[in-house]
Amino acid sequence: MSATKKLFIKTYGCQMNVYDSERMAEAMGGQGYVTTDSPDDADMILLNTCHIREKAAEKVYSELGRYKGLKAEKPDLKIGVAGCVAQAEGAEIMRRQPLVDLVVGPQSYHRLPELEARARAGEKALDTDFPAEDKFDHLAARPKAKRGPSAFLTVQEGCDKFCAFCVVPYTRGAEVSRPADRILAEARDLVERGVREITLLGQNVNAYHGHERGLAGLIRDLAGIDGLARIRFTTSHPNDMDDDLIAAHGDCDKLMPYLHLPVQSGSDRILKRMNRQHTRDQYFAIIDRLRAVRPDLHLSGDFIVGFPEETETDFADTMELIERVGYGSAFSFKYSTRPGTPAAERDQVPEDIKDDRLQRLQALITRQQRAVQDAMVGREVAVLFEKPGRMAGQMVGKSEHLHAVHVTAEGLAPGDLRRVRIVGSGPNSLSGVLI
Ligand code: SAH
Ligand code: SF4
Ligand code: F3S
Repeated sequence: MSATKKLFIKTYGCQMNVYDSERMAEAMGGQGYVTTDSPDDADMILLNTCHIREKAAEKVYSELGRYKGLKAEKPDLKIGVAGCVAQAEGAEIMRRQPLVDLVVGPQSYHRLPELEARARAGEKALDTDFPAEDKFDHLAARPKAKRGPSAFLTVQEGCDKFCAFCVVPYTRGAEVSRPADRILAEARDLVERGVREITLLGQNVNAYHGHERGLAGLIRDLAGIDGLARIRFTTSHPNDMDDDLIAAHGDCDKLMPYLHLPVQSGSDRILKRMNRQHTRDQYFAIIDRLRAVRPDLHLSGDFIVGFPEETETDFADTMELIERVGYGSAFSFKYSTRPGTPAAERDQVPEDIKDDRLQRLQALITRQQRAVQDAMVGREVAVLFEKPGRMAGQMVGKSEHLHAVHVTAEGLAPGDLRRVRIVGSGPNSLSGVLI
C-alpha cells in the first residue's frame, strides 16, 4: 500500500453533486486517499462542477486559474474536473486550462481510480461515457464510519423532460432508476451508522421506477426501517406526482411535510414555451390535493425570470401564482442561455428587465418565507439536532418543515430528536426551548 495521499474536493451545484462527491471520496479511499479541507496540502484536487447557469460554469475556470501557483510548486499535484461541466465540455476543458490532468463525467465515477492512475503516469485522462454498467454498483461500498444524522441517497438520475432552458438531460443523460433492494440496503447501512433522516435524490426523483409501486412504494418500504425517523425527497416534477405519492403525504408518518415542487413560471404561455407540459391550473390542482391530505405541508419551488419572450403580463402571472400558493421557501434565477438548448436561440429579455423582475419576485418570496416562519412561533415542533451552534451550549437542528432551529440546553447531542417549543423567529432560523 502506498503512503497516504490527500484529496481536496470542491462541490458546486445540486445535492446530487454533494452525494457524488462523498462517493468519489470513498472510491479514492481505496487508492490510499484521505480527504483534506485545504487545496494547499492536496495531492489531488477535484472540482465537482455544475453547468446549470453560465455563472456556475464560469466559476470553475476562475477556480482552476487559482491553482496555477500550487501546481508550479508541486508538479505532482493532479487536478481533475468532474460533474456536469466535465460532461458538457469534455476535452475542451483541458484545451482551455492545460493545468487539468483529468476530466470525468457524472456517470463514470466508478472509473475514477483508473483515471487517477493514468494521470499519475503523465497522461491526460478523460472519460465522459454513459456506460451501460451502473456507477453505484461499482463504487466502493461506503466504509463503516459513523455519520451525521442526516444523509442524501441518490435513487434516480437523469431526465427525459427536455425543458427548453435546461442542460440536465444532456449532462446527466436519460432517466435511470436504481433498484429498490440496493437502495434499501444502503439505507439500512446508513441507519446502522447513525443516520436518522434520509433525503432521496434524483433530478426527477418522483419519476423513480426502480420499485413496482414507484417512489411511494420505495418510501413506504423505507418507512419500515427501525431507527430511520424521517424521509424526504427532492427534486420533483409536477407531472410525476402520482396518486400514491400524494396519498403518502397523508398516511406515511415518516415522510416530512415539506415538498420542493418547482413550477418555474405562472404563465401558461411561458410554461408552454418552456416545454413544461402542464398548465398553472394543473399545478394548483396538485397542491390542493396535497394540502387536502396534509394541511400543514410547506411548499418550496424554483422560478426562472426573464425566460425568452416573457412579458410583464407573464411575469404578473408568476407573481400571482406565488401569492396564491404561499411558499415556505423558494429559489429564483434569471434565465441564463445555455448552449445547445432550444431557448438559447430565441428572443432574449434585456438584462435590466431580468434584474428588476428578479428583485420583485425575491422580495415577495422573502416576505412569504418570513410570514411562514413567524407563524411557527408558539408551536411545538420535532427537531432533529445536527451540530453545535455558534453560541456556547447551543445546538442546531431541523424541524419537520426544514426550518433551522436553535436550542440552548444541557446534554443535547447530534442525532437527538426532541420536541421543542418555538419561541423566536430570526431572519434565517427559529429559536426554541425543549419541552
Ligand atoms: N429537475 C428539477 C430542477 C433541476 S435544475 C426540475 O425539474 O425542477 C434546478 C433549477 O435551476 C431549475 O428548477 C430551474 O429553476 C433552474 N434552471 C435550470 N436551467 C436554468 C437556466 N438555463 N437559467 C436559469 N435557471 C435555470
Ligand atoms: Fe431540467 Fe426540466 Fe429535467 Fe428539471 S425536468 S432537470 S428543469 S429538463
Ligand atoms: Fe448543476 Fe448538474 Fe446538478 S448542472 S444542478 S450539478 S445536475
